[in-house]
Amino acid sequence: MASIAPGPVLTPRVPIPRNGVDYRGTVVLAPMVRSGELPSRLLALKYGADLVWGPETIDRAIIGTTRRMNPHTHTLEWSRLPTSKLKNPALDPEQRESVLYRIHPELEKGRLIYQMGTASPDLAVQAAKMVAADVAGIDVNSGCPKPFSTAGGMGAALLKTPDLLCDILRRLVEEVGTPYEIGISVKIRILDTPAETEALVRRLVQTGITGLTVHCRTTPMRPRERAIRLQLKMVGDVCRAAGVACVMNGDVTSRAEALQLMREFKVDGAMIATEAEKNPSCFRPDAEGGPHEWRSQWRTVVTEYMRLALQVENRWGNTKYLLGQMIPGREKVYQAMNKSRCYADVVAALELEGVDGMLEHAKSVDQHLGIPQPLESKASKKARIREANKQAGPATEKKEKRKDMGAEQLEAKRVKITEPSVEPAILQQTETAAPAALSV
Ligand SMILES: Cc1cc2nc3c(=O)[nH]c(=O)nc-3n(C[C@H](O)[C@H](O)[C@H](O)COP(=O)(O)O)c2cc1C
Repeated sequence: MASIAPGPVLTPRVPIPRNGVDYRGTVVLAPMVRSGELPSRLLALKYGADLVWGPETIDRAIIGTTRRMNPHTHTLEWSRLPTSKLKNPALDPEQRESVLYRIHPELEKGRLIYQMGTASPDLAVQAAKMVAADVAGIDVNSGCPKPFSTAGGMGAALLKTPDLLCDILRRLVEEVGTPYEIGISVKIRILDTPAETEALVRRLVQTGITGLTVHCRTTPMRPRERAIRLQLKMVGDVCRAAGVACVMNGDVTSRAEALQLMREFKVDGAMIATEAEKNPSCFRPDAEGGPHEWRSQWRTVVTEYMRLALQVENRWGNTKYLLGQMIPGREKVYQAMNKSRCYADVVAALELEGVDGMLEHAKSVDQHLGIPQPLESKASKKARIREANKQAGPATEKKEKRKDMGAEQLEAKRVKITEPSVEPAILQQTETAAPAALSV
């Protein structure tokens, strides 16, 4: 009797839904509160990022927002009236709305992953449904170590409540991933021992998720500590055996390095955060010249960033913050940039007046955004905020105090933010807010 030759061992694969994306073979932009806003994502895509994660948005923050197309910038926005509506009474009510989340449906089509902070399956599902038709995937943040996140049971706290985390993922798969035909994924950190990480990953890959990102640091590790790659291959193996794509994260600095690490550790993709914040050209393939060298070529990258920030009329405080990340601090222009109060100022500071009518564009964006706002004395600002808080009630009062403190403390200083050291729900309602957790 003829023996039957063993066939090739088939690796299982969780099917990628029709409107979703496969994380395999990708080098992607990490979720970053503040540093992952729209122009930063568009620039990463322009330089070759395969996918981009949006900044973590807390479930409750997006629920109840209004989704609207902005015909002026061709962006899709989820916004609401801030609790304190008096921020800029000179503007008409529509412009006073806070935009919590903004995407470019055409340029980000099929490449944007929405990341949420959540500790509740019900809220997670509700929040995900707000954006599911407009994104290629929904990711759950299970790695943020900051107390504001973990105190609510979100972020890294979910690593300690695997039943809850699995429940959230399963509900998202069933009630959002399946009907909207997009993938659900999770981003975790490694645990103290390989055995603990393995046990967790084994459970997560059974929930129906299509991808898992592993940040190769433990929860207590600081961002400057070297990522630990000892557990990575094991995590990749467990994911592969279950047919789930595994994306590595931690100290990856370029596409070439990412591809080499993916081969070495047999993982499917790689995610870049800090390096992309400073130099989004890190995604550029070697075949196209590779990343621009930061110290000598930052101007090229910053010019591209300015084009995009103006195109989508990015919040001025966010643009200024990102410029502070991308311009080397020793450059003279850094000081001038830091003193700018509007787009026209910064275009002049960067000597970009002659580039493609940028100054004219900047002036019209300034006018549209109502900046610079007239200078206000500290006393009158305090009085205005006190008045606004009185009207909004005690809970808001506390929140507004934090926001205001942040706004005063934070110009576009070079800062190292821990993961994500700014409270997303609050942050996304204000352009310069930086609560106390920010380490300058
Ligand atoms: C400014 C900043 C904001 C971040 N915000 C988030 C976030 O919203 N969600 C998240 O999962 N991780 C967040 N992180 C963590 C990064 O996604 C990433 O896991 C971490 O920085 C490690 O990658 P790296 O070594 O390439 O920096 C943030 C990191 C930075 C620097």
